[in-house]
Amino acid sequence: MTQAIRSLFALAVALFALSLTSPARAQDAAAGRQKADTCMGCHGIQGYQASFPEVYKVPKLSGQNTQYLINALNEYKKGERKHPTMHAVASTLTDKDIADLAAFFHQYGAKDIRPAPATLTPPPPPAVAALIAKGACTSCHGPNLSKPIDPSYPKLAGQYASYLATALKAYATEGNPYYGRNNAIMSAQARQFTHAELTQIADYVATLPSELRTVQNPRFR
Ligand code: HEC
Ligand code: HEC
Repeated sequence: MTQAIRSLFALAVALFALSLTSPARAQDAAAGRQKADTCMGCHGIQGYQASFPEVYKVPKLSGQNTQYLINALNEYKKGERKHPTMHAVASTLTDKDIADLAAFFHQYGAKDIRPAPATLTPPPPPAVAALIAKGACTSCHGPNLSKPIDPSYPKLAGQYASYLATALKAYATEGNPYYGRNNAIMSAQARQFTHAELTQIADYVATLPSELRTVQNPRFR
């Protein structure tokens, strides 16, 4: 199957399965497990690539902070994060679905995840260190970029480089109807850098030891 067809197929499966999920289960990771089948066509395949607005890897979700996952899904739903596919997916989810899915992905495969070292290891090359200092990235995302000061902020260390670069460019984008992220904090951050600098930061951050994973769904092996 081509990637486009595979994505559409995954989405169709997602929408169908979501229509079957029963309401009023306890809000927990086990309920999220049922609902997450629908996400696995994209988030359960190692290195699976999205092609809009450019080719990049679908982000790792396992190990990510629960509250951050909840916020991100709500932002796609409301259009504060513009992304046609994730908007379509998130629009079908209730608040409870979102909470269950976030609880599930936070712990899915997490027993295999070792805590990242406390500081940036290996340290950034001087040019990248200057960019990270300019943006004070560690003041919010933690001294290792994996220990955010608030659970609504994401872990970044070891996330896919191409996704990090796409996300950073999205925060810097204004006025595009299909693409861009409105977030007061991160938009101000990203706009002080060139795209080349954002890519340099992303390439380095992706090399850091990570508490994030894409857990391969056995069905898609
Ligand atoms: C057709 C493919 C596809 C499906 C199905 C899909 N996603 Fe996504 N997801 C993506 C892509 C691509 C992105 C990155 C979007 C962007 O650039 O902001 C993404 C981003 C996300 C993010 C943001 C992660 C971050 O680090 O900010 C979350 C959370 C998420 N998806 C959860 C889900 C959940 C939960 C489901 C199932 C209900 C799901 N996705 C289904 C492709 C998909
Ligand atoms: C003042 C606190 C703060 C600072 C400083 C900061 N960030 Fe963020 N960052 C956030 C918050 C909050 C979010 C979540 C925004 C959202 O919900 O979209 C975020 C999100 C991100 C994301 C999206 C991750 C994903 O999974 O989609 C990236 C990438 C990122 N930050 C990189 C950086 C980099 C690189 C720097 C330094 C240049 C930086 N941040 C500085 C608070 C901060």
